[in-house]
Amino acid sequence: MPHDWSVELPFDSTSPTGTGGGALRGGMGWYTKEFILPVTDKGKEISLYFEGVYCKSTVWLNGHLLGYRPNGYISFGYDLSPYLNYGTKNMIVVKVNNNEQPNSRWYSGSGIYRNVWLQKTGKVSVADWGTFITTKTLNESSAAVKIKTTIKGGGKLMGYTIKVNLYNAQGQSVSTDESLILHRDKNTTAANEATVKKSIQEIDKVEVFTNSLLIKNPRLWNIDDPYLYKAVVKIMNGDRVLDECTTSFGIRDFEFDVNKGFILNGKRIKINGVCNHHDLGSLGTAFNYRAAERQLEILKAMGCNGIRTSHNPPAPGLLDLCDKMGFIVMDEAFDMWKMRKNPFDYHLDWDQWHKKDLQDLVLRDRNHPSVFMWSIGNEIPEQWNSSGISLAKELADIVKALDPTRPVTSALNDPQPNNKIYQSDALDLVGFNYHHQDFAAFPKNFPGQKFIGTETVSALATRGQYDLIPSDSIRRWPVRWDIPFNAGNKDLTVSAYDNVSTPWGSTHEETWKEIKKYDFLAGQYIWTGFDYIGEPTPYPWPARSSYFGIIDLAGFPKDVYYMYQSEWTNQNVLHIFPHWNWKPGTAVDIWAYYNNADEVELFLNGKSLGVKSKSGDELHVKWRVPFVAGSLKAISRKDGKIVLITETKTAGAPAKIILSADRNQVKADGNDLSFITAKVEDVNGVLVPDAANLIQFSVTGNAVIVGTDNGCQTSMESFKATSHKAFNGLCLAVIQAGVKAGAITITATSKGLSPASVKISVNGQ
Ligand code: GAL
Repeated sequence: MPHDWSVELPFDSTSPTGTGGGALRGGMGWYTKEFILPVTDKGKEISLYFEGVYCKSTVWLNGHLLGYRPNGYISFGYDLSPYLNYGTKNMIVVKVNNNEQPNSRWYSGSGIYRNVWLQKTGKVSVADWGTFITTKTLNESSAAVKIKTTIKGGGKLMGYTIKVNLYNAQGQSVSTDESLILHRDKNTTAANEATVKKSIQEIDKVEVFTNSLLIKNPRLWNIDDPYLYKAVVKIMNGDRVLDECTTSFGIRDFEFDVNKGFILNGKRIKINGVCNHHDLGSLGTAFNYRAAERQLEILKAMGCNGIRTSHNPPAPGLLDLCDKMGFIVMDEAFDMWKMRKNPFDYHLDWDQWHKKDLQDLVLRDRNHPSVFMWSIGNEIPEQWNSSGISLAKELADIVKALDPTRPVTSALNDPQPNNKIYQSDALDLVGFNYHHQDFAAFPKNFPGQKFIGTETVSALATRGQYDLIPSDSIRRWPVRWDIPFNAGNKDLTVSAYDNVSTPWGSTHEETWKEIKKYDFLAGQYIWTGFDYIGEPTPYPWPARSSYFGIIDLAGFPKDVYYMYQSEWTNQNVLHIFPHWNWKPGTAVDIWAYYNNADEVELFLNGKSLGVKSKSGDELHVKWRVPFVAGSLKAISRKDGKIVLITETKTAGAPAKIILSADRNQVKADGNDLSFITAKVEDVNGVLVPDAANLIQFSVTGNAVIVGTDNGCQTSMESFKATSHKAFNGLCLAVIQAGVKAGAITITATSKGLSPASVKISVNGQ
């Protein structure tokens, strides 16, 4: 665990999941797990917590049915205590039914694809998702922290205390509070109730206690300094700790404003976010903390500050990372309500489950400082149906009852004032999907409303692929979403000059130019940060993964990554493309993304091709040059001084492999990863831009290869093979550490190329 069986299967043109589902089959899976608990565990409350199972899971313990949960993204738990054996074997059986297809518009993965936890507590404990922490800065020198703790099993709590300690990131205690619990029973008099410091409220058999604390000189959470505190809640009986629960939290104030967009801790910030699906490339959907962290690192380096968990509850670990790394998260619940998008999707479970699923999402995620808004749905068909009004109200009410601190939005792809979801008045924040041409008129059409671009762009590109000229004539592919597309490139690639988009979307530049203009627009979530498995719009089979990413499926940035980096960071950027390997005389458009400079001068084999500067709202400069082999060098200057120099050279034949590891030290925890990039270079060390050599990876030492990829949307090679072809010069191998410390060596070989190896040390815990 976590495990995704679909990613291990071959790509299959006859898969009922379709290319939309990545052409990987679903099917039925059974998991079993035997375990023995010590006799000393008798009397404890023991439960099993699943962070996510795709989908329709049924769980049994020792032959007893524990429950069924259809939603493939929600976290859920079962109490095991009634059926456990102590000192002898127990058997858990999990049935996963992803057989009814199609049930998703993207690659879902199949199986127990997130972590599972066995939990043991005493009879009296903090309930699952049993703390709710809210904060408010009172002034510069103090913040109020309110902690509501839900306690279960507390029928006889008389005389117990709840102790709350708040710690800063250095582990120093910054505030404490202690409250004596007097259980409200028939002997509780008004007088002794008054001695109870905190409020007590009875809800069935659980009780909710509120502690209010102050933190002096709080360090606020924000995207550049995502500072986290910890709250430790202890239930004590005298000196005995009955349960202890640690929750991390951040202190931040925010609002969405009709005129000023998004304001965090008093400062206006544009949300420069991306949407992502939940797969992690060659790992499939099996959640891995380091793989998710790497994705966020690559995005952060681009200047991205937001993540939309499209279109479903994310892995809890992703939100932990967003808390730690400073991302503004739109936490999304559903891709459909009662009206279907696919014959076997969640609409079938809507009536019975939507209330619980939404409640559980909010209860689970409401302490994360990175979560700033709830989306109750993406492109919901009820937008056009009067039932959308009452459903939107119902869902917003469910959210608000559990979390009054965050706005509710919904991603509307028909952003007209007569949209039924908009008309419900349930949205605090109006979310547009696409329609960048209508941004300007928003204040007129939606007076007094707050505004965010819930989903934007949907531009298409294949990394390292260029249709040469004209590079700036824009193509909209497919012509319509509902008609088969038979134009485009024969090899099913899409040019990476940002000039191809879906007709409902735009190029990256088109939308960003608009977003920049309007302060009232809080920001955007671009479709998408990373390519994902499935939805290979505009192409049919054998295309099987998406073209939407700013970064390809293997994690290699496409060129437009540097456009955003030049706009969203202060770091100096100068990126020129395409590569410099063409037929002599071919006219080539050369683009440069740059910042922090007045001009860029381009040189071909030492001869200047002229100086260019961006004017107006331009985001790149361009030269058209007849190809001559050699060196293409760009120099950016500010006030006459050189800021950056970048050079690409004509490559010769593939000669060698160069390996690099994203991390040379990993933990011996059986999970940690190192991402190894293989570059195919010529004898002079120049990347060969169309190299497709088959690379064989091997590893010695305590580690395994868990994935290989090259970012090509039509590759039929298995993500689980230890060999993979390079695509446009690059290839990736993902290495997972075992549990023993020691050195490991990864070697890459290929016929006719000099091999390479890289050493990694696996460090003990
Ligand atoms: C949107 C949808 C996304 C994705 C995208 C592709 O309409 O919300 O899930 O399908 O289109 O352009």
